[in-house]
Amino acid sequence: MSVLRWPWGSSEELVTQRLQPACAAVLAHIHAASFAHGWDEEAMAAMILDDMIQSDGLFASGQPVAPVAFVLSRCVLDEAEILTIAVSDRWRGRRASLRLLQHHLQCLAARGVRTVHLEVEEGNAPALHLYDRFGFIRTGERKGYYARADGSRATAVLMSREL
Ligand SMILES: CC(C)(COP(=O)(O)OP(=O)(O)OC[C@H]1O[C@@H](n2cnc3c(N)ncnc32)[C@H](O)[C@@H]1OP(=O)(O)O)[C@@H](O)C(=O)NCCC(=O)NCCS
Repeated sequence: MSVLRWPWGSSEELVTQRLQPACAAVLAHIHAASFAHGWDEEAMAAMILDDMIQSDGLFASGQPVAPVAFVLSRCVLDEAEILTIAVSDRWRGRRASLRLLQHHLQCLAARGVRTVHLEVEEGNAPALHLYDRFGFIRTGERKGYYARADGSRATAVLMSREL
């Protein structure tokens, strides 16, 4: 667990912690608000309990089952794929994802991961900026990979980096 104090003087503290099944309902809520096709509470609980998935959250103090942001990665041998990262509406634009992803990559490295892969929609500027900032390199794209809520399709950008 590590503690983040906001640099702009807020007294609010956030801590990074491994997720637990009791967080599943909040995760499903954040996910549904973030993506066209949300994952439900049951799916979230199953992923948290899966030993191959590294699941980390960012929590406000006194809120042990209600993360403000979370990230999930599937690990196979020395490779991992970031399955999803999302920040709740109220915490967007406050660099919560920077701290969370930094912690998550450290956790992946600690369990022996050497290469991390991900896919991101080509128009998702905040996410692309976040991954660029962390040194992820674009390795390809998949046209029409994502189905948008309006029925149109969007290209996925493939990225990876070594730890
Ligand atoms: C993507 C997401 C996780 C970023 O989380 P966040 O904590 O709100 O983002 P941050 O405040 O840390 O901003 C990340 C970076 O993107 C930049 N950014 C934010 N909005 C941006 C925009 N519209 N265009 C370009 N850059 C942008 C920020 O300035 C910051 O970079 P900096 O630190 O160099 O200034 C968040 O927007 C989210 O949950 N989105 C919905 C889910 C999603 O799309 N997840 C990614 C799926 S691959």
